[in-house]
Amino acid sequence: MKILSIETSCDETAAAVVENGREVLSSVIASQVEEHKLYGGVVPEIASRRHAEAIVPVVKKALSDAELTIEDIDAIAVTHAPGLIGALLVGVNFAKGLSLASGKPLVPTHHLRSHIASNYISCKKLKPPFLCLVVSGGHSHIVMVEDYTKMKVIGKTRDDAAGEAFDKAARTLGMPYPGGIEMDKVAELGDDSKFDFPRPVVRDAPYDFSFSGLKTAVINLIHNMEQRGEIIPKEDICASFRKAVVELLVSNFMKAAEDYGIKTLVVAGGVSANSLLRKRLAEESEKRGFKFFKPDKSVCTDNAAMVGAQGYYEYLSGNIADLSLNAIATLPIDYR
Ligand code: KG4
Ligand code: ZN
Repeated sequence: MKILSIETSCDETAAAVVENGREVLSSVIASQVEEHKLYGGVVPEIASRRHAEAIVPVVKKALSDAELTIEDIDAIAVTHAPGLIGALLVGVNFAKGLSLASGKPLVPTHHLRSHIASNYISCKKLKPPFLCLVVSGGHSHIVMVEDYTKMKVIGKTRDDAAGEAFDKAARTLGMPYPGGIEMDKVAELGDDSKFDFPRPVVRDAPYDFSFSGLKTAVINLIHNMEQRGEIIPKEDICASFRKAVVELLVSNFMKAAEDYGIKTLVVAGGVSANSLLRKRLAEESEKRGFKFFKPDKSVCTDNAAMVGAQGYYEYLSGNIADLSLNAIATLPIDYR
């Protein structure tokens, strides 16, 4: 079964063709990052306008790269939630128009479920049940994936997402948006024991995260050093901050796996590209005899191939929308 998939939840206009949820026949991404860099973050109205301009050529290219036409497609999957509402509406309305014109079924797909599904592309053997750490620019969740379309959140951030914490700390250091990527590179050059940042815990909620205190600590440190006219040791700050974020993520995730008796662990979302997080999760999993899966770096950040992967399983589960489908800015991962 071939699915044409569309993703416009944030600042990438993406389309792909995916066969049976696992084989990527084409994947096209038009990134707006360079434009948003000018403002230090995503400007929602600009994002919507750029999606409106890019959506037709991106979908056409996804079909032509796969050497297919719309007649060869079995269903159209689209990210309908969560995300920037104006950005989501562009993809949803385009998919509805295409579904109406072509008569192909329309499959609404949750963005975070799609991040999890990026692993089905990278690891062909991977099947639920497993425990997944979903870490992106907007979310940090520990999710019990009982089946492809049945999941339960067992831990989440109480304030900032991990990606957001990386981006804000990086911005204070003068790094371009999205700072998490740059911070990861610069951290490789630093000493991670130079600064002892706090490791906040959420009382009575051992699987929940809190990153805002850590973010404030790094921002205050940088501002205080600037006020004293000191040279900012960027590399050491990046290394120490990255270590603190990764330690918090890994320790709660391992605790959840042990407590729930789950032996297959998976990571997903933009922050899953972080080199230290990938390394530490692999090490800690091996120590405990867990199997650990991670997506290829090429599908960690937003793309439509992952939407096609999850869309396949949504279709199989009967999640098919009519033309009243709407975009939703906030929707829990276990909404159905
Ligand atoms: O999943 P994603 O592409 O978009 C959302 O759904 O939010 O995640 C983007 C986030 C950004 O915050 C970005 O800085 C972060 O993922 N990110 C990283 C790395 N690569 C991307 N954070 C840390 N280390 C990286 N290597
Ligand atoms: Zn995302």
